[in-house]
Amino acid sequence: METFFLTTPLYYVNARPHLGHAYSTIVADTMTRFQRQLGREAAFLTGTDEHGQKIQRAAEAAGISPQQFADQVSAQFRQEWDRLGLDYSFYIRTTEPRHTAAVTEIFARLQKNGYIYKGSYSGPYCVSCELFIGEGQPGNPCPTCGKPTELVTEENYYFKLSAFSDRLLELYRAQPDFIRPESRRNEVLGFVEAGLKDVSITRTSIHWGIPVPGDEKHVLYVWFDALIGYLSGIGYGSPAAADQQRWQKLWPAWHLVGKEIVRFHCVYWPAFLMAAELPLPRGIIAHGWLLFDEQKMSKSVGNVLRPEPIRQVLGADALRYFLLREISFGQDGNFSTTALVTRYNADLANGWGNLASRTLAMIAKYRDGAVPEGESDAAMRELAGQARRTLIAEFEGWQFSRGLEAVWQLIAGMDRYLAEQRPWTLDNDAGRAQLDRVLRTAYLALRCSAVLLAPVLPESARALWAQLGLPAGPEQNIEHLHWDDVAPGQRIGVTAALFPRLEKEKTLEELKRLEVMEEQLPAPAAKPAADVHIAIDDFAKVDLRVGEVLTAERIKGADKLLKLTVDIGSEVRQIVAGIALAYEPETLPGRKVIIVANLAPRKLRGVESNGMIVAASVGDAGAPVLVSVPSDTPNGARLR
Ligand code: MSP
Repeated sequence: METFFLTTPLYYVNARPHLGHAYSTIVADTMTRFQRQLGREAAFLTGTDEHGQKIQRAAEAAGISPQQFADQVSAQFRQEWDRLGLDYSFYIRTTEPRHTAAVTEIFARLQKNGYIYKGSYSGPYCVSCELFIGEGQPGNPCPTCGKPTELVTEENYYFKLSAFSDRLLELYRAQPDFIRPESRRNEVLGFVEAGLKDVSITRTSIHWGIPVPGDEKHVLYVWFDALIGYLSGIGYGSPAAADQQRWQKLWPAWHLVGKEIVRFHCVYWPAFLMAAELPLPRGIIAHGWLLFDEQKMSKSVGNVLRPEPIRQVLGADALRYFLLREISFGQDGNFSTTALVTRYNADLANGWGNLASRTLAMIAKYRDGAVPEGESDAAMRELAGQARRTLIAEFEGWQFSRGLEAVWQLIAGMDRYLAEQRPWTLDNDAGRAQLDRVLRTAYLALRCSAVLLAPVLPESARALWAQLGLPAGPEQNIEHLHWDDVAPGQRIGVTAALFPRLEKEKTLEELKRLEVMEEQLPAPAAKPAADVHIAIDDFAKVDLRVGEVLTAERIKGADKLLKLTVDIGSEVRQIVAGIALAYEPETLPGRKVIIVANLAPRKLRGVESNGMIVAASVGDAGAPVLVSVPSDTPNGARLR
């Protein structure tokens, strides 16, 4: 049987995951579960992209090696996906030896086939996108992300991308849905039709990458390296027979990507594969961006929200449901916690959850927990059939929101049906048969909804299934789902609220509080290992001094940061500190603090910071507590 094999982008490890990353991974998880419920074998791969200048710089700023940095952040991605119950089948890190083996093999194939030559590049480069811009002046904004580009001048190996224009155009023509949605396809067509230039696939001015075999002062360009992760992650490049069989069985993949990386996936990647004589992907599906305050949620804009507080307060299922229901797949969508809580209450607590608890309570009360037998309502049965058909068609076309809407039409239809039938008036001899019919219909509708919603709300669907007293799980084949397939003598299970109603203001406050704690989590840093000692000279390199805060003010647009001026005896320093949530600025002037005086200057939210304030990191969330000395300690005194 052919396997449905899907990939998410391999996320950069320059910072820990935010909701934007979670969105892609949740979509991949949902699609994979859905495919399984169509009776297909399905798997998805995710992982982390760990080489390149962006990561090298992030590690330098943290004062640790790129590998240590990548180890910590990659573990955070994996931990987050595990907490959210995202059931990836493969996880690849591009710093794993099995990945290097695959990359080396593909590079060798390209070389053998004559698609690689040596040249030089001098021009703008965007570190944030890891992109050679090719034209314009260094310093100009990157056409993709808008950040200033930098001049790169180096000797490179080039890939003959120009040789593939015709074959790529032919591919897009022969397979019109190779790139979805249509708008992205047109963008790519325009790009390729304008003529392709050869691309540099190595760097010499950075060292954090996979060395070019036989010419080790070059490392491979991070995008060349990373795309191959889709193959190395399933066994390509390994000599073991089992690995070979696995990748050959799974490949080619569907690639799910954010819209900003469509070109890499639709142009470079198929061309690399053509050059390596490997099968091309089945297709590329691009989704839009999650916006927050109308801008792309991203670390560099500084407007990210984390999945974790939402999971803790509303549960992973509520987050999945919201993202898939609220955002029209393929388009950008604004994220708002207010909308999240509103939808939770309306659709999950008052909608699905309430239908479940009312129905189960009535079966307990009127029929002592036994599901009545006999006929069910034909109109409701038809509505359920329609929900099932619509969900299949819409999910197959990645239109999750419309598919879910159809299930909520079934839920609303059931609510109306119960309001009309007034089952609480039927608990008498004359009403017996009708009450049986109403309760059975509601029970069957719930059973059907649990199966249909299992790909999106896996935990809640399982919980409902158990409450319905049904064997196995709701992950049943959706195509073959029979409305009335319930064993005689069926009894309901133990019931409980699926989605307790949430008080809006309190919930929003709680989300905010947890979000604040999340942001205070310590950034990757070298962990002092108990068994590793440093020499006194190492400690002496850190210039720790007593300082006195002169002024403190908030930084516009950055909730967590304060701009301080600190007298350190010999001079007054401007320092940006992430303590705004724990300290009011008015309380700080006159206070003695400890600062690290010899850190390289850096900019936070555009404000220069010359040093760092030392704080104890308290509790799981690492809330900052300023470290101090008696108030008569002179400014500038060194700590040794
Ligand atoms: N490392 C590359 C991808 C290499 S694939 C071989 C990269 N990484 S990334 O960390 O920047 O992740 C980009 C992906 O994360 C996007 O394509 C998208 O899937 C997801 N998202 C990151 N921010 C997002 C939003 N604000 N909204 C939606 N998705 C977002 O690019």
